[in-house]
Amino acid sequence: MLSRHAPSPKAVSSLSTRVLPSTAHAASRFPSSVSSAQQSRGLATVQDAPPPPKRTHFGGLKDQDRIFQNLYGHHGADLKSAKKYGDWYKTKEILLKGHDWIISEIKASGLRGRGGAGFPSGMKWSFMNFKDWDKDTKPRYLVVNADEGEPGTCKDREIMRKDPHKLIEGCLVAGRAMNCTAAYIYIRGEFYHEATVLQRAIQEAYKDGLIGKNACGSGYDFDVFLHRGMGAYVCGEETSLIESLEGKPGKPRLKPPFPASVGLFGCPSTVANVETIAVAPTICRRGANWFSSFGRERNSGTKLFCISGHVNNPCTVEEEMSIPLKELIEKHCGGVRGGWDNLKAIIPGGSSTPILPKSVCDDQLMDFDALKDSQSGLGTAAVIVMDKSTDVVRAISRLSHFYRHESCGQCTPCREGSKWTEQIMKRFEKGQGREREIDMLQELTKQVEGHTICALGEAFAWPIQGLIRHFRPELEARMKDYAEKHGGAALAGGWDHDASRQGKLISPGQ
Ligand SMILES: Cc1cc2nc3c(=O)[nH]c(=O)nc-3n(C[C@H](O)[C@H](O)[C@H](O)COP(=O)(O)O)c2cc1C
Ligand code: SF4
Repeated sequence: MLSRHAPSPKAVSSLSTRVLPSTAHAASRFPSSVSSAQQSRGLATVQDAPPPPKRTHFGGLKDQDRIFQNLYGHHGADLKSAKKYGDWYKTKEILLKGHDWIISEIKASGLRGRGGAGFPSGMKWSFMNFKDWDKDTKPRYLVVNADEGEPGTCKDREIMRKDPHKLIEGCLVAGRAMNCTAAYIYIRGEFYHEATVLQRAIQEAYKDGLIGKNACGSGYDFDVFLHRGMGAYVCGEETSLIESLEGKPGKPRLKPPFPASVGLFGCPSTVANVETIAVAPTICRRGANWFSSFGRERNSGTKLFCISGHVNNPCTVEEEMSIPLKELIEKHCGGVRGGWDNLKAIIPGGSSTPILPKSVCDDQLMDFDALKDSQSGLGTAAVIVMDKSTDVVRAISRLSHFYRHESCGQCTPCREGSKWTEQIMKRFEKGQGREREIDMLQELTKQVEGHTICALGEAFAWPIQGLIRHFRPELEARMKDYAEKHGGAALAGGWDHDASRQGKLISPGQ
């Protein structure tokens, strides 16, 4: 039994297509008289092809470059169909290449976490192989985050119900990279169908010897377990998810210690998103260069985008990273309802990312850095489209209600702040407020940011900041309208002018 220990990479037949000459060998070919200026040019020769022109347009991913070949369920989700479409091909060879090779390939591919934060996956996985990791006798876990709670997001469920073997093979490959003993897939409770399909696929993989003892005949033992959650949004946060897996209430833990040192059941663990894990085997098979050839620098790869709201054909589609937002919607969703000019705003990366007005959407590229530059985020790439019929204040107010409901209540800025913002936003919907309260609301969200245990604090603060940044005139117009109808702006705290006559308590002096 080899278990968590790396088999010798020498024993492996070559998979990689990237053969680099050894630098030492190359250097020995240079006569000592070669000037340092020439040397600094490296190994380039006149025969070298000129560098390819820098790409300025992204998108238009070809079918043969799609990782998720069965995203629309045209074929079965069973093992036989999965193998027909390339899954489980040469998995043994990938495993035998060892953890260093897999991690370096993931690093070179530029893959960034698809769960929202966009942290470089290769680097994150490498934290598991800390110094003397092999002397530690504790089990080690890969925890797959299949909670998918972010409103607007509907990509992981598609992978699990149509392409479950991609995820299971991904667990094995990523598990091997981190020398894990087992993977726990934590699936959102409502995904009953997905859990059934996934469990069936896990059983097929066990029966075929692909996972379990001596997985794929590689000498590596690896188990995969499926665990159904109970539907709390905050359980998608990695440490909260770990708590929940351990059978405790899903409340985030303070970090450090990070899960790579103290994770599930106190053992080294890494939590990763379903999509991140599911793309790993294809990256190893087709090569890091293939994956990194898509998208802009630092934003490489293909990506699942989920587009919902006021488009003619809402869908989940795999596209090239950095595709223009307008092209994504026009090409795959049949355009915005009533045409692009009928667009009002878009939430580009799931409900916690700040809203963007049409003027920004016109030229927006869909990747981590471009959206950060526009003061929003790629998040889970859940694009929520709103046409001119949308009441944006009401939309963001509804999100405030969601986040208040989902706060676990551990930290005061989140517990109290989410409640206050919900109350204020409810008033603002009706124009019941004063202009200076808009600044107070903005200040409140700034006080929450960075002062909470988990990022749910930011998740409820950012949509409001986006609304104020881009739709302040709409808020002010509503307040003006309210003042005209009610004989003056609402009193501080939203009280009506005749509140005392209505028998409602108001503060002294009002
Ligand atoms: C409140 C909250 C909810 C989250 N929900 C999810 C989720 O449903 N799915 C997910 O993959 N990541 C979610 N995350 C992010 C995870 O904490 C974690 O960063 C992610 O699973 C890491 O995977 P990656 O490295 O593959 O991106 C959430 C984070 C927060 C703060
Ligand atoms: S930020 Fe909110 S959800 Fe996160 S730990 Fe604090 S109270 Fe809980």
